[in-house]
Amino acid sequence: MLASERSPEFAEAMGPGSPIVVFDKVSLAFDDKVILTEVSFTLITGHTKVFLGASGAGKSTILKLILGLLKPDRGVIWVNGERVDTLTEHEMMKVRTDLGMVFQEGALFDSLTVAENVGYKLYEESDMPIDEVRQRVEEVLGFVGLTEHIDKMPSELSGGQRRRVAIARAMSFKPRILLYDEPTTGLDPITADTIDDEIIKLRDLENVSSIVVTHQLRDAFRIATHEALRRNRTIDIELADEKKAEEAEFIMLKDGRIHFEGNAVELRASRDPYLKAFLS
Ligand SMILES: Nc1ncnc2c1ncn2[C@@H]1O[C@H](COP(=O)(O)OP(=O)(O)O)[C@@H](O)[C@H]1O
Ligand SMILES: [Mg+2]
Repeated sequence: MLASERSPEFAEAMGPGSPIVVFDKVSLAFDDKVILTEVSFTLITGHTKVFLGASGAGKSTILKLILGLLKPDRGVIWVNGERVDTLTEHEMMKVRTDLGMVFQEGALFDSLTVAENVGYKLYEESDMPIDEVRQRVEEVLGFVGLTEHIDKMPSELSGGQRRRVAIARAMSFKPRILLYDEPTTGLDPITADTIDDEIIKLRDLENVSSIVVTHQLRDAFRIATHEALRRNRTIDIELADEKKAEEAEFIMLKDGRIHFEGNAVELRASRDPYLKAFLS
């Protein structure tokens, strides 16, 4: 990539406060079925975007565009300083080293152990020595509280534990951006909370930038309104102060367009009939 192809916003150091994912008037159709029309948004480093919308609204499509698995028909997409809508599959590989993805339902490899699942990308795509991979796997499993399950098979774990393994796998190579597609679907509310808390911990303690797709409002609000605080030996999840809560924004997709964008307070206060129906 030529330096001249970097956007001016990315010319400065990509630190806190700078954009890390930018959609600029992105449109996409499959044949004559319009999926997205001129979708524009900016994710700031360390912040969170929560995408809401009915089934088929285009939420997973947004994630596929970020990953470069789909290309838009029109518009520009920047990810971590690279203009990904024009990259080849080969060039995209480098961008993906900064993208962790937690798929719907976790999507673990059933025939691999927890350790092999979590270390998969490090074994396959890096020259990291085996004992260092094992060390990193232990570290991330410790982060999600699953150290003692390291040598189990996915089938020996509960649904919530499998989802946490998927999060550990996504963070194993220290990506700057984490994408979550319906991370709590199918989980009971208490287990869903533990997944939300991992998402919050990663965002606040590891400074990753997050995009969360969900139709579970309860989880969306928990992620948007809580923060993780490290105190001596414990990590507490607490209601965030107002300023911190403004770093999480909701985007509601409807008919291929952004119907609403704003923080939790603005979403709750909205008088828009479609939003009110969605929230109730
Ligand atoms: N590869 C594809 N070819 C044709 N249509 C697709 C393809 N992928 C997704 N779609 C359609 O695009 C729309 C948006 O899909 P998706 O982004 O998965 O929605 P969501 O995640 O919000 O439920 C759906 O109507 C889906 O059927
Ligand atoms: Mg989807």
